Amino acid sequence: MRRSVLWLLPLIGTCYGAQSALEPAGPAASRIAYWWWVMFILAVLVFAVVLVLLLLSLLRRRGDPTPDTAPPKTAWVRLVWIAGAIVPAVVLAILLGLNIRSEVLVAVAAKAPQLEIQVIGHRWWWEVYYPAQGFATANEIHIPAETPVKLLLTSQDVIHSFWVPQLEGKRDLIPGQTTELTLQADKEGIYRGQCAEYCGLQHALMALVVRAEAPERFQAWVSQQQKAAPTPEANTLAFEGQQVFQGSACVYCHTVRGTNASSRFGPDLTHLASRSYIGAGIRANTPANLQGWIVNSQAIKPGNKMPPMYLSVPELRALMAYLGTLK
Ligand code: CUA
Repeated sequence: MRRSVLWLLPLIGTCYGAQSALEPAGPAASRIAYWWWVMFILAVLVFAVVLVLLLLSLLRRRGDPTPDTAPPKTAWVRLVWIAGAIVPAVVLAILLGLNIRSEVLVAVAAKAPQLEIQVIGHRWWWEVYYPAQGFATANEIHIPAETPVKLLLTSQDVIHSFWVPQLEGKRDLIPGQTTELTLQADKEGIYRGQCAEYCGLQHALMALVVRAEAPERFQAWVSQQQKAAPTPEANTLAFEGQQVFQGSACVYCHTVRGTNASSRFGPDLTHLASRSYIGAGIRANTPANLQGWIVNSQAIKPGNKMPPMYLSVPELRALMAYLGTLK
């Protein structure tokens, strides 16, 4: 008996961690977590009552081996109706009402959003635009803490779903439509998110992070992102790397502002070195991981749109030096 209870512990353990809706860090997520607990406790109570009734009926039959052929008594029929139909209907109606009320409260933010960010879903990464500030990034969304931020969501290909459990509920990204979501973090921190709508082979590896920062730090980040990439000094390794970058297939898919690369097919790389992750939140942005990704990202995330790059060792070394300057 004790061992069977211990088996349940890992189940409880999975409720907590980096992507837990039960560790809310924003007003909307707090409301969702609150109602999660209300529903969970109600469900446990109903389950307990059903178990008790089941146990009682089992014990009742045990001492009575002859089949019960007498017609059921009216009081029993009434009890069965109340327990089996009326109580569940009332409980579900109350929960539905509370759920609708909660949805409305979540939809209406207390303060008007201070900032608008566009998020475009791709298989399998997130394009992130700051229209008023005039720059793009990918897979990492910086927001000021304690400030409501409006996200305008759409998709380039199939339906994706934006979900950062510690901050908000899910919202679908639908091709040809724009959906909205108000994001607010109560305190500074890094909040992991994940695509929550099956969108193909690498759906599970379509992650993102939201970084909520103090207003000054957020402003400093915006100012840095607004700058174009610097041109490396002539006769340096980074300069050679820029030549490799501009002379290879990289420019057909990526943008680096300040160079001839201006395609929006893949993530904007203007400030690649300022990001913590590559491949949509799946690998730390270290030189070793980045190099592996460039050489053959198909081995890391099969089916993604980046083809293997056939570069010589000196070319790759120069390219890495250049990408390292994109802070
Ligand atoms: Cu995008 Cu699942």
